[in-house]
Amino acid sequence: MKILAIETSCDETSVAVIEVKGDKIRVIYNIVASQIKLHRKTKGVVPEVAARAHLENLLPLIKQCAEKVKFDFKTGKGIDAIAVATGPGLITALLVGVETAKTLALLWNKPIIPVNHIAAHIYSSIIPSDNFQPKWKFPILALAVSGGHTELILIKKHLQFKKIGATLDDAAGEAFDKVAKILDLPYPGGPEIEKIARTGDPKAFQFPRPMIGSKDYNFSFSGLKTAVLYASAKFAPKAHPPRVEKVKSEKLTIDMCSSFQQAAIDVLVSKTIRAAKEFKVKTVCLVGGVAANALLRQTLAKKISEITPAPQFLVPEKKYCTDNAAMIGVAGYFTVNSKLKTQNSKLMLKIFPWEKIEADANWEL
Ligand code: KG4
Ligand code: ZN
Repeated sequence: MKILAIETSCDETSVAVIEVKGDKIRVIYNIVASQIKLHRKTKGVVPEVAARAHLENLLPLIKQCAEKVKFDFKTGKGIDAIAVATGPGLITALLVGVETAKTLALLWNKPIIPVNHIAAHIYSSIIPSDNFQPKWKFPILALAVSGGHTELILIKKHLQFKKIGATLDDAAGEAFDKVAKILDLPYPGGPEIEKIARTGDPKAFQFPRPMIGSKDYNFSFSGLKTAVLYASAKFAPKAHPPRVEKVKSEKLTIDMCSSFQQAAIDVLVSKTIRAAKEFKVKTVCLVGGVAANALLRQTLAKKISEITPAPQFLVPEKKYCTDNAAMIGVAGYFTVNSKLKTQNSKLMLKIFPWEKIEADANWEL
């Protein structure tokens, strides 16, 4: 089965083709047209601007994908279904992917599979790398950390998600982005802070670890972000809003990045480990854009290995942590599989007609 997958939920336009034979998944093609340069000017995503860029990029990317993978761009011959991220995300951005996918499904007479973007991030943990195909052992605990979400999710079987905790305010990625803005670093903040933090002292600033001791599995990052704002203001008291660019010493910025990153990671790791123990999970997955962070990957891997018996730890290759269409294709495949045991194209068309597909910006898992 070959699936054409489309992702436009935020600021990356991505198209992929994945193939599944038996239980073997193969990403035949995955391309991401990043809008980072565009959003650097505003130090964040302006939904209208993102949607316009998706509009410009999407059809040419699908055409390029058809040429590489050798399916017929005019008839869709060579692919069996289209999977598209229908939510959650920015509605203007989602609509571009969803309406394009619906139009192609109608033109090509193909089934179209709606995919939840967070579910897709979770499925990114089984995308093969270096010819190794990871396999989930249930129950699974997923820490999904992105620019819009910070959630701990329990999975007892495919597509049965139970959220056990989430952020009460900012998402982890959002906190990285906002702290970068305070420190006058480029967008997106995550990779910039990670790069700068490498040479810093994580203990230089005693930033709070919000909710680390709370009995639930929720998170809060806005207080941590504010603590960075006040720390930076101390060194540039007259700036409104306080900005650290006034701080002469670069060392302070480096230490602030390092201390902030450590505080965020401490909370994420502590709650994930507690949940992994309480629910006796057999697999822990770390997914979403923030999962690209090397210190988070290393720290969580180490702490998981210390649990007895230790669950397996799955984290996608970095290119599959941030938004991509390959993960939409994989989640799409399991969505079909959960409803339909045989791969019958007529039945697929009946269950997944284009008329049923709608973008839903607030789709909860
Ligand atoms: O999953 P994603 O690409 O998009 C959303 O679904 O939101 O995540 C993007 C987020 C951004 O906030 C970005 O700053 C963060 O992931 N991010 C990182 C790193 N790379 C991306 N955060 C920390 N460290 C990184 N290396
Ligand atoms: Zn995402």
